[in-house]
Amino acid sequence: MPQYDVVIIGGGPGGYNAAIRAGQLGMKVACIEKRATLGGTCLNVGCIPSKALLHASEYYEMALKDFAGFGIDTTVKLNLPNMHKQKEAGVTALTKGVEFLLKKNKVDWIKGSGAIAGAGKVVVKAEDGSETTLDVAKAIVIATGSEPASLPGITVDQMRIVDSTGALALAEVPKTLAVIGAGIIGLELGSVWRRLGAEVTVIEFLDRITPGMDEETAKTFQRALAKQGMVFRLGTKVTAAKAGDKGVELTVEPVSGGAAETLKADYVLVCVGRRPFTEGLGLENVGIKPDKRGFIETDHGRTSAPGVWAIGDVTLGPMLAHKAEDEAVAVIELIAGKAGHVNYDVIPSVVYTFPEVAWVGKTEEELKAAGIAYKVGKFPFTANARAKVNDEAIGFVKVLADAKTDRILGAHMIGPDVGEMVAEWCVAMEFQAASEDVARTSHPHPTRSEALRQAAMNVEGWTMQA
Ligand code: FAD
Ligand code: NAI
Repeated sequence: MPQYDVVIIGGGPGGYNAAIRAGQLGMKVACIEKRATLGGTCLNVGCIPSKALLHASEYYEMALKDFAGFGIDTTVKLNLPNMHKQKEAGVTALTKGVEFLLKKNKVDWIKGSGAIAGAGKVVVKAEDGSETTLDVAKAIVIATGSEPASLPGITVDQMRIVDSTGALALAEVPKTLAVIGAGIIGLELGSVWRRLGAEVTVIEFLDRITPGMDEETAKTFQRALAKQGMVFRLGTKVTAAKAGDKGVELTVEPVSGGAAETLKADYVLVCVGRRPFTEGLGLENVGIKPDKRGFIETDHGRTSAPGVWAIGDVTLGPMLAHKAEDEAVAVIELIAGKAGHVNYDVIPSVVYTFPEVAWVGKTEEELKAAGIAYKVGKFPFTANARAKVNDEAIGFVKVLADAKTDRILGAHMIGPDVGEMVAEWCVAMEFQAASEDVARTSHPHPTRSEALRQAAMNVEGWTMQA
């Protein structure tokens, strides 16, 4: 029977980072992944392909609409098959890269489906049906991730009614695309297809978009997307969907009551959240009972079963690749007897649309609900030289600082490249910085990052450039 110190089930950002860290710390490690490639949802059908299409479609729209304004006259033609090829090349390179990293760190990638057979035992079922039992000395780490949630009465056929995986691979640009759910997937992939020419209608159950995002930022975000042509139907629910050869008929109703109506679209994207994936994992063999929504509850990564840990999307918390990675490192360090820890107060979020939205820490709504007195520092990109000269002066930076101590409690940004810049707030917050620390730190000119400094100055009212 093959023997390992640590066996990790799942080869996504949670699983592969756990495997690498365990390899670095000298443990004998196996990572079980049933997909033909490593990298999980993120690399295969999530973060990476979606960002490839967002990047390419942004260039396309820029070439079509904005180049002339910069004095560049062009004739622009979309080549969708090549756009998909570029995306796939990126995915292949990165999934191969993970394979290389596992080898480099002496991790065995065991291909197949893993299930816990009992304490310290994992069975792997290969594609040909053969089974191997692994003997696990120290720890089993569950990193099986998540899958798209479904909607009652709507069947995702990946032809006309697609989930995010189908929406990343449409072979034609829809004339009309209905998106169910104004969350991150809906707005990112909705943006891709709108830029490429689709008329996009987003249907959202709530009366706001992107729940969880700071409200003021979400309102500005919705206005920006609407200006680009995205149509929003908030407070609306879809009660039925009928797919035909040429399109889909949706029945929609106001959530507050009222008459139902029919909405037609060439394609429908269902993106109403994701659910944890634990099917066939043998949790019952070690007495782990997922919560009502299927998540595995953990305490610093430990499940209720001794020697069994869980990380990433299959556990509670934001479903983000870097959260899975943070938990992976912490859990492996704890298994190795070190002081692994995740600071859940400093996990950033980014929506990779244009404008981008990025935030970290508490929202104004959360601070108000917790009764914490705070000060706001704000700065608009219309007053930022670089954004202005690049003709992308949209949005703002907002920082929230403790009214008494000036410690940064949260930062919310909408604008150009804010996804790259949010890491500055993360570092500041990890060092428990005050807003004044950022205000008095030199920032290069002319960069968009100066907007962060100006917002920090604004906490004490000494913004100099607006
Ligand atoms: P996963 O990546 O889901 O990996 C789990 C792996 O386990 C899978 O490969 C699965 O095949 C395997 N597996 C499951 N069960 C078994 C089993 N029994 N045996 C063997 N293998 C098994 N997050 C971001 O931070 N930034 C983004 O920009 C971003 N964009 C996204 C875009 C889309 C369209 C989607 C769908 C998601 C996006 N996410 C993004 C979320 C991100 O992909 C997830 O949070 C992340 O992949 C979670 O990592 P994980 O390791 O927990 O799970
Ligand atoms: P989400 O949770 O972000 O948004 C789902 C939306 O659907 C919500 O606004 C919700 O109110 C709405 N909704 C739920 N039921 C509905 C119904 N019946 N009718 C209409 N609307 C309904 O989920 P999404 O967009 O599917 O993304 C899943 C996860 O993937 C997110 O939690 C996110 O963490 C991750 N992700 C992260 C990205 C990033 O970091 N840039 C990109 C894409 C996904």
